[in-house]
This record gives sequence, structure tokens and C-alpha cells, in this order.
Amino acid sequence: MAESSSGLRRRRWWRSATTRVLAGVATVAATATVLVTAPGADAAASTLGAAAAQSGRYFGTAIAGSRLSNSAYTTIAAREFNMVTAENEMKPDATEPNQNQFNFSAGDQIYNWAVSHGSKVRGHTLAWHAQQPGWMQNMGGSNLRNAMINHIQKVMAHYQGKLAYWDVVNEAFNEDGSRRSSNLQSTGNDWIEVAFRTARAADPSTKLCYNDYNIDNWSYGKTQGVYRMVQDFKSRGVPIDCVGLQSHFTGGSSVPGNFQQTISSFAALGVDVALTEVDVTNANTSQYSALTQACMNVARCVGITVWGVRDSDSWRSSESPLLFDGNGNKKSAYNSVLNALNAGGTTTTPTTTPTGSTTPTTPTTTTTTPGGGSCTATLSAGQSWGDRYNLNVSVSGSSSWTVTMNVPSPARISSTWNISATWPSSQVLVATPNGSGNNWGVTIMANGNWNWPSVSCSAS
Ligand code: G3I
Repeated sequence: MAESSSGLRRRRWWRSATTRVLAGVATVAATATVLVTAPGADAAASTLGAAAAQSGRYFGTAIAGSRLSNSAYTTIAAREFNMVTAENEMKPDATEPNQNQFNFSAGDQIYNWAVSHGSKVRGHTLAWHAQQPGWMQNMGGSNLRNAMINHIQKVMAHYQGKLAYWDVVNEAFNEDGSRRSSNLQSTGNDWIEVAFRTARAADPSTKLCYNDYNIDNWSYGKTQGVYRMVQDFKSRGVPIDCVGLQSHFTGGSSVPGNFQQTISSFAALGVDVALTEVDVTNANTSQYSALTQACMNVARCVGITVWGVRDSDSWRSSESPLLFDGNGNKKSAYNSVLNALNAGGTTTTPTTTPTGSTTPTTPTTTTTTPGGGSCTATLSAGQSWGDRYNLNVSVSGSSSWTVTMNVPSPARISSTWNISATWPSSQVLVATPNGSGNNWGVTIMANGNWNWPSVSCSAS
């Protein structure tokens, strides 16, 4: 408990100090103090939210309004999390129980609780085949299309300027990547696009997300279906800002080995990615740390939300899938997540992020040790522009090296310096020393793909 209360005190102090500085009323001395004591990469934070904040991310939870009177629940929630999703209270059946008669009391209760504890809020959700009010369930055609548009406009107007993200559309795909049949889908294949365009017009201040489950495995049909939709939206200017991977690793599923590839692939389309409803069967520690690490390794993975506070609060409580047990004790998975958040990721963010682009996301270092020799090639971000970026490469371990760099299509290397270069293909550069030393670099035309190349180094 001592650790918790000191963490809370520090977080409150940090917020109030930051506010003072932002308000421009801080003295020089106060500003200096903030810089020295702000949580940073070298200061392990003691709560999930503070640990995530060190890398500019958030750590959130789903909050159920019915539990806000439980002080054991609210104590943990207020201490640990800095993003809140209403578990059910902002869904269509809650906010529009009768057509065009809106009720925001339950949603507002959660919103007010969250902001009064320094937390931001994710809106969840505006258009979904499930949890529709009775009057909507039997609708179709243009009546339903208009009702959906009206719902989005009115609900977003109520929360105008208040929410960090909105899950505009939820769970609209089948497992094979085709569209799920529903009354919304029957209004026309463009219903998702209409929902996003309506949402942007209703509240341009909020980031607009598509949210779904079972889109964690990059080679899965549903993942590819959603990916193609986001790719299509971005290419046609349909307003979409983020993709939520629900990440329910319960009910027989688990974190796939290519989870980070999925996150970075979505991010490379130019959207934020978030893990929005995380739970893991029996709170397996290695899966929790793997999913956290995957997010930390992708610059544009903006945050993680677990779907409830304690196991007893979970929609799948029999699987004990959360970070706190029913008595509010931290489980070992809590520590694995906290450690991963504090350790940070392997991604280097370029000093300038080109407008309208993603930041590079793939590993910075690869080492191979063939035939007894060994060397390491380390990538770091150089200058970047709207269409291209520089990567600096530093080779250590040997002065006689060959570095092979594979650039993800359709990106292309447009120039190199301080190396002798050969080109087995347009995507592959083989670099050897040209007498200029071990520090060299490349300029890469992104062509829309800002993922960094992979590199391997061999010494002779
Ligand atoms: O509040 C009523 C209560 O008055 C009534 O006595 C009781 C009887 O069944 O039902 C209560 O409502 C339940 C509600 O949760 C609140 O507990 C609903 O039946 C139940 O269906 C509802 O389940 C929610 C589920 O979405 C519905 O689809 C879960 O709490 C919620 O965790 C879950 O969340 C979804 C995300 O929104 C989308 N992704 C999947 C995720 C898990 O299913």
C-alpha cells in the first residue's frame, strides 16, 4: 500500500506541476524541478498509467458504472489507469433507448468519474450489430441508415471535444474477412464509410476508430479483411484515425507470434493502433508481457486497455483474465506488464515525423554471427521529410563486414553514403566498407510505407 499511495501522490504532484508549467505561471525554479523529477526512461514508474505515460502511451481499463460505488474497485482504477472505456454505458442501447430520445446519465457518470481522476476517455461504441436498442433491431433500409446517422450525430455532439477516441464502428467483419451480415450491413456496403464521414463532421476533435476482435494474427482472414478496408479508406480519404485490436486472448485464443507485425502493419497505413479490450486466460504472464512488448515496439501503438479491473469484474471472470485478483491484489501478470512498460520498446522515433506518415516501426538492430566472426548493425533515425527519411547505420564488432538491408515494398532506397553498394534486387542493398569507416547511411523513399528495413550483418 505504501508503494501505491506514494505513486498516487507523485502522479498528482506531477499533474499539478505540469498544469502550472503549461499555464505559464511556473517560476524558473519550479520548471527546473519538473524537468528533473518527471517520470522518464530511467525512473521506473509504480503504476500502469504512469509507466505507460513515460513513452507517451496510456494504460486504460473498462469501467462499469454499477461498480463505481465500490471503493475497492475505484481505488485501484483511480490509481492505476489513465484511460477509461465505458464497458456498456455509451453503447446505443444505453444512449438512445427510445428513438431520438437520448439518455446520457450512465455514460456521463463514467465520463465524470474518469476526468475527475485525471483520466482520458475512449468512447465505445456508435455503430454495432449488438447492443442495439429494441426499436433499432427491427429496422432496415433507409430508416436504419438515417437512424444510425442521427445516433452518431447526437451522441458525438453530446461528448463534443471531450473524448480522446471513439469506436465509431465495432465488429463488422466475419472471421474469413468478409462483412458480417447484420441489419446495418443490409443498408448497403458503404454503411461503415458513412458512419466515419458522419462522425468526422460531428466532432472533428476526436480520433475515429474501427474496433474488432480476432484481428491479432496477421495471416488470419479477418485481420486481412479489416486491413484492406482501412487501406481503402486511407487511399480514398475516408476519415479514419485508428484501429482497435480488442485482444481478447480468452475463450481458447492466445497471443499470436506475429502480433507485433499486425500492429506495425496497421500503423504503417497511417493510423494509430490501440489494444482496446485486453484479457488473457488465467492472466498468463508471458502472454501479457508479449502483448505489452509488441505495443511498446511500435511507435504508433498508442495505448493498452484491459477489459476490467479485477478478475471478478471481467465478462469472462471464470478465466481469471485480468491483472488484479478478486481481492484487488496485483497478480504476477501485473508485474510483467509494468516491467515491460518501464523497460520501453526497441523502436526509435525519428526526430521529425513527416506530415501524414507513420513513424518507422521495425527493429533497430540485427546481429548475426556466421563462421566465427560477429558484427552488429544498429539503425537510428536521421532527418525525415514528407516523402522520405534517412537512416543512420552503425556497424560494430568487426571492420570487415557485409550488411544486407531489405526494404519493405514499395519503399525504395534512393541514395547511400560511406559504403560500397550492390543491389541484388530493387528491395535489397548489400553494403560493404569503402574505407570511410563503420558509420554510413541511406535515404529511403517511403512510397507510403514507413516501416524500417530489416538488416543483418555478417563478419569475415
Ligand atoms: O444490466 C443488466 C441487468 O439489469 C440484468 O439483470 C442482467 C441480466 O442478464 O443483464 C445486465 O446487462 C448485461 C450487461 O452486460 C451489464 O452487465 C447484459 O445482459 C450483458 O449482455 C452485457 O454484456 C456485455 C457485452 O459486451 C454485451 O455484448 C459485457 O458486460 C461487456 O463486457 C461486453 O463488452 C464487449 C465489448 O463491448 C465489445 N467487444 C466484446 C466485449 C466482450 O463481449
